[in-house]
Amino acid sequence: MTEHRSPDAHFRTSLLEENDGPGANPTDNRTMGEIIAARFSRRGFLKGSLAVSAIAATVSPLALITADNARAAEGSAFAFDELEAGIDDKHHVAPGYDADVLLRWGDPLFADSPEFDPTKQSAEAQARQFGYNNDYVGYIPIDGSAEHGLLVVNHEYTNPHLMFPGLVTIVDGKAKQAPLSKEQVDVEMTAHGGTIVEIRKVSGKWQVVRDGKLNRRITSNTEIALSGPVAGHDRVKTSADPSGTKVIGTVNNCAGGVTPWGTYVMAEENIHGYFSGELPQGKEAANYKRLGIPEGAYEWAAHYDRFDIGKEPNEPNRFGWIVEVDVQDPTSVPRKRTAMGRFKHEGAESIVAKDGRVVFYLGDDERFDYVYKFVTTGKFNPDDRAANMDLLDDGTLHVAKFADDGSVEWLPIVFGQGPLTAENGFASQADVLIETRRAADLLGATKMDRPEDIQPNAANGKVYVMLTNNSKRKADQVDAANPRAENAFGHIIEIVEDGGDFAATNGKWEVLLKCGDPSVAAVGATFSTATTANGWFGMPDNCAVDSAGRLWVATDGQGPKATGRTDGLWAVDTEGPARATSKLFFRVPIGAEMCGPLFAPDDQTAFVAVQHPGDGGEDWEAFGRPSYYEDLSTRWPDFKPDMPVRPAVVAITRQGGGKIAV
Ligand code: FEO
Ligand code: CA
Ligand code: CA
Ligand code: CA
Repeated sequence: MTEHRSPDAHFRTSLLEENDGPGANPTDNRTMGEIIAARFSRRGFLKGSLAVSAIAATVSPLALITADNARAAEGSAFAFDELEAGIDDKHHVAPGYDADVLLRWGDPLFADSPEFDPTKQSAEAQARQFGYNNDYVGYIPIDGSAEHGLLVVNHEYTNPHLMFPGLVTIVDGKAKQAPLSKEQVDVEMTAHGGTIVEIRKVSGKWQVVRDGKLNRRITSNTEIALSGPVAGHDRVKTSADPSGTKVIGTVNNCAGGVTPWGTYVMAEENIHGYFSGELPQGKEAANYKRLGIPEGAYEWAAHYDRFDIGKEPNEPNRFGWIVEVDVQDPTSVPRKRTAMGRFKHEGAESIVAKDGRVVFYLGDDERFDYVYKFVTTGKFNPDDRAANMDLLDDGTLHVAKFADDGSVEWLPIVFGQGPLTAENGFASQADVLIETRRAADLLGATKMDRPEDIQPNAANGKVYVMLTNNSKRKADQVDAANPRAENAFGHIIEIVEDGGDFAATNGKWEVLLKCGDPSVAAVGATFSTATTANGWFGMPDNCAVDSAGRLWVATDGQGPKATGRTDGLWAVDTEGPARATSKLFFRVPIGAEMCGPLFAPDDQTAFVAVQHPGDGGEDWEAFGRPSYYEDLSTRWPDFKPDMPVRPAVVAITRQGGGKIAV
């Protein structure tokens, strides 16, 4: 019998979101930390000496800081009264705004959907209801409207200890979780994937159109086609699919994107957790090791052979891709676009380059892994939607190499070029794409501090890269001039591509922000001095730009111990004297991370996704014990004793209407 990991108290956030598995990058390529250190050692010195002489010659340090504050506050692109940071069991938004719960886990999506009943969960019901742990949120207008459209939402993963009654017992103050039944596994599988649902704004408030004709659930049981260079390759054939073109399901859809032609793209991130079992000798060993497969965090392999690599050794090669969904046809078969590479895909935000090619920025969320971009071969045709439908099957994937001098080179990942040859075990582009990480290792890409969402900004031509943290970066991997031997709080990189061309293969980069508490000198955070005690944050993750090109950053991993505040949504200035000023706009209840965010095309709504609320409570003074179905640190958003905590999408609007933060 196949061995499965003991499910005792394996609360999945810690297993899957730490991204500290055996997939860790084994190469000697330089880390981002080493390169930042090299840059700051020079610049920091220069800036420091100039500042000291200026202060000595003219005014007191205090007067200088006050003047800086005034300039930064005046120059801010955001007008709203900042919210106070803190921790409790509710969500909070800046004064003058409403934050209304729009869609909760279990909410009906179709005319025939059953109402949510946590004591009568079934796969059949869940497949007709909103899924769990909402992450990416996208909006596709209907008839060009900013008040009527399709909301597309990823459901990244499941937390059984919060979802199902009767699973957890407390032994010596610690939570122990019983194995799941097959029925519970089936609910988990249908709670994953994505939701496409029609929404409409009526009298200033958003409503779900329950019987919208394009409403759809995508789950871990939906048939999905493999397309692009890997389709039909021997390494993706299984006993159920000898053609190597038909996959059942998608998992761990983290961030994502909406393409310029209005399709929905879902990124498959932590795929390693779903596979269990022992790989037959010699086959795919190095490939799977580089991704940490199998991790066995889920119990799916006990009931479905395709998740047991002893029985289906090729199945993991069918996961870790970008999935594209044609939302205009609810019967369409989604496609895993293999040309975009296989790794722990975080997101897939895109932009049309000057010449009409389409550029996707892609993060691989693991400590010491890479930043990628994919450039289509074909050009976007704004007048013919059908002509764009297979653009993602043909293009060039690149990986970023950041240099000390502030330049970045995008290295093409192409079979036959450089080291990507038979000598290194690649026989085709399909091999290169299946083992994207190993190909990028060989090219000498820069090891990053966990790349999350990456956002190109049409308004100013810049690209923002969220690097969430990397506490494993050792002292000998950073320069003494950079005090952050462990990057516990993450940072944000800003890229400007050469000639303002997003398809360029070279560009320049800057650190926009090193995150963390700026009042603690040892943290080395670089928020502007106008940033208040509420305004700083750590662990940037998902992000968005609104139509004015302003940056909004959502966080994952703050909390009582990490930062003394919950996760939330921060407005971050990027231009002028206010650059690197941050202000808190929204915060989540205890245990949650902040996902989404997304601005409606008229900037009058910010959609945010509250993911895994109530997941944790031991570290919070007001609770101080494990949080699980029967004893939750929050019962957000319903606060009813018979209703568990529920991840949900929240729509933020300005009281009385109007654009947000102007
Ligand atoms: Fe699913 Fe990297 O956050
Ligand atoms: Ca994320
Ligand atoms: Ca985003
Ligand atoms: Ca994350």
